Amino acid sequence: MPPDKIALALAESGWCLVRDYLSTSETAALRQECLETYAQGAFHPAGIGRGAAEVHTDIRGDRILWIDEANPGLALQKALAKLEALRLAINEHLFLGLFDAELHYAVYPPGAGYRRHLDRFQDDDRRTLTVILYLNENWAPADGGLLRFWPDDSDRRIQVVPTGGTLMTFLSERFWHEVTPAQRQRLSLTGWFRRR
Ligand code: OGA
Ligand code: MN
Repeated sequence: MPPDKIALALAESGWCLVRDYLSTSETAALRQECLETYAQGAFHPAGIGRGAAEVHTDIRGDRILWIDEANPGLALQKALAKLEALRLAINEHLFLGLFDAELHYAVYPPGAGYRRHLDRFQDDDRRTLTVILYLNENWAPADGGLLRFWPDDSDRRIQVVPTGGTLMTFLSERFWHEVTPAQRQRLSLTGWFRRR
């Protein structure tokens, strides 16, 4: 799906799910870089809230590495360039004033999930659009780690299987979502396009 189409879908419903945003080989290369960085032990437990965030692994069990702290490999540079083009296309269509991107790798070890939440902080409204790019090989629904997403105010929810190459994006302040406990290691590049 080209960036313009994604922007139009966002204008219409506030969220967009894109299968095969990255090709199989692009995804494999980025997964490799993520796993190499993870093996170097640089990731840390993700916190809840802003600043000196508290770690509560029962609420949120992933381990993250902010991208500006990672050694940017070629696959990551390519993915970042693609997301940057998406940010600019969205700005042209939606006037969200997306100013920059704040991104991290996220690794959910087996057993980890993330309870139902909204992405925007109470004391900081810069996070505007959430982008999640999954990096997993051969993910089956039975592997858990599903993104449950409530697209409106009803009980209706959709479940996104975190298959590698899939991009999920949504307005950060609007949509409740959760990650069900993963049965195996679950990888993504996740972040936010922010306003000033
Ligand atoms: C998050 C989040 C969802 C996912 O990092 O805030 O909700 O599917 N991630 O990884
Ligand atoms: Mn979230």
